Amino acid sequence: MQLLQTFSVLLASVWVAAAQSSVDQYITRMTPISKRGILANIGPNGANARNAQPGVVIASPDNDPDYRFFWTRDAALTYKALTEQFTSGEDTTLRPLIDDFARSTARFQALNTPSGSAASLESLGEPKFKMDISPFTEPWGRPQRDGPPLRATAIIGYANYLISTGNQTYVANTLWPIIKKDLDYTARFWNNTGFDLWEEVSSSSYFTTAAQHRALREGVTLAKALGQTAVVADYEKQAANTLCFMQSYWNPAGYVTANTGGGRSGKDANTILASIHTFDVSAGCDAKTLQPCSDKALSNLFQYVNAFRTAYALNSGIPANQAVATGRYTEDVYYGGNPWYLTTLAVAEQLYDALIVWKRQGSLQVTATSLPFFRTFSSGVTAGSYASNTATFTTLTTAVKTFADGFVSVVEKYTPANGALAEQYSRSNGTPLSATDLTWSYASALTAFAARDGYIPSSWGAAGLAVPATCERNTGGGGGNTVAVTFRAQATTVFGENIFITGSVNELQNWSPEAAVALSAASYPTWTVTVNLPANTRVEYKYIRKNNGVVTWESDPNRVLTTPASGTFTQNDSWR
Ligand SMILES: *[C@@H]1O[C@H](CO)[C@@H](O)[C@H](O)[C@H]1NC(C)=O
Ligand SMILES: *[C@@H]1O[C@H](CO)[C@@H](O)[C@H](O)[C@H]1NC(C)=O
Ligand SMILES: *[C@@H]1O[C@H](CO)[C@@H](O)[C@H](O)[C@H]1NC(C)=O
Repeated sequence: MQLLQTFSVLLASVWVAAAQSSVDQYITRMTPISKRGILANIGPNGANARNAQPGVVIASPDNDPDYRFFWTRDAALTYKALTEQFTSGEDTTLRPLIDDFARSTARFQALNTPSGSAASLESLGEPKFKMDISPFTEPWGRPQRDGPPLRATAIIGYANYLISTGNQTYVANTLWPIIKKDLDYTARFWNNTGFDLWEEVSSSSYFTTAAQHRALREGVTLAKALGQTAVVADYEKQAANTLCFMQSYWNPAGYVTANTGGGRSGKDANTILASIHTFDVSAGCDAKTLQPCSDKALSNLFQYVNAFRTAYALNSGIPANQAVATGRYTEDVYYGGNPWYLTTLAVAEQLYDALIVWKRQGSLQVTATSLPFFRTFSSGVTAGSYASNTATFTTLTTAVKTFADGFVSVVEKYTPANGALAEQYSRSNGTPLSATDLTWSYASALTAFAARDGYIPSSWGAAGLAVPATCERNTGGGGGNTVAVTFRAQATTVFGENIFITGSVNELQNWSPEAAVALSAASYPTWTVTVNLPANTRVEYKYIRKNNGVVTWESDPNRVLTTPASGTFTQNDSWR
């Protein structure tokens, strides 16, 4: 009996060692593949990006779906990862590429775009450009307000390095004007609605607000270092406002609601990506900025992951304390709605970040909020603080590490033999789907692997923050203001038929024919309705007819209007 027990303990530890070494092997194999995958997508020397201007990152070389465009968000997150590799000394050859990125950013910032003019800064909310650095003018979910702050963060990381190596002149003369535009945009427009990172829902979005908050905080520190004191008061004030607003996304059911609009559960990789993007070891496990080890972030991760256990056939039969494939959100239908490599890896990264902090601070806190998460790994655990010399600390951190590695193992299982990371993998059988060689998938692999290795990114100012007692709006960009817009549509109808409107914003029900807003026939054949829409916002919409449940849409293209900064507005249309 004794012998048998010893033998099975031995077996178990051999098994754990084998499982870990498989993750280690995967990481060793995938690290150079991921790095090459990124570099191949950056112009003009990347094999997939010969036609792209210097510093321009294409999202993927795929032409179906056509991802051969520059997305500000994807590029900024990718360059953030590359800049960390450069400033940490891991790869000192990246400097010319990072300089290219800063130069291309200046060129993008000078363009007038469908999101607005460069003079008003509204152009900066444009999410997507052509690889020759010209605007993309077709209909799209715009503006997206996370691009400028993400880009500011990437370039500030480089600027801080240059200052520390005595090259303040280049930062002051070349980088600061670029960074300042993105921060001015962020300070002015954070309180306006925009499309989320998945380009589908126009409302307020946690990832966007968190990215804005971080950029403004580190922008203040950089501005002070450069003696650019004129911007400090405004950035500080708007940073406090965004921190305040961030708190409002918390759902007492135990997770962060990803978007204020969209009509979904709100459990979304958006919030996991926000937590890892704003990781700051100096803030410990502070929940105000959703630090990876905070009780709110762990509860949020737990609920997000669990939402996918039943969503995908791929996850069936996997026990509740083991990793599963995760996607953007369970209601997703894009390409059939599948797990994504970058969202599954983001879960691993958040947990690795949490482990870094617990080890550094030598303790781990279990609160009522994080209890359900920890109980998955140790059913008897209770709320309390566990020092690193306790058995509970060892049990929980070991289990969390195994859980985290599990997400890497899921990705490993569905990585094809050549190591190529597409955007998605099938919810039913795990085969790669949608865009091939997605730059962001590769970047997410590198940052998750670095976190597993204990890499600590530079602090950005998350420590010791106080949330203002009352949240203030910022009306500088029309933010939070609404305008009463009256839609007047000439339409003749048959008996039983009614006219409705739906469109790209929450207030117009995000293109939902079911929830579309009814117009009144009181002045027939003019149908009217007045809707409060966000000020200073570009809105796309269409009228629809409904007759006994049968929906008829107007012909293409979508109608477009831009609301004024204040007052009222009347729009006159005829059914098309
Ligand atoms: C400062 O950095 C820029 C960008 O890499 C470089 O072109 C310049 O030569 C550097 N200047 C000094 C004095 O190192
Ligand atoms: C603007 O800020 C206020 C205060 O935080 C908040 O209540 C409101 O929802 C915000 N609106 C947008 C669109 O960000
Ligand atoms: C629509 O018509 C009303 C009244 O006829 C007018 O006041 C308004 O300016 C028109 N709107 C536009 C955008 O032309």
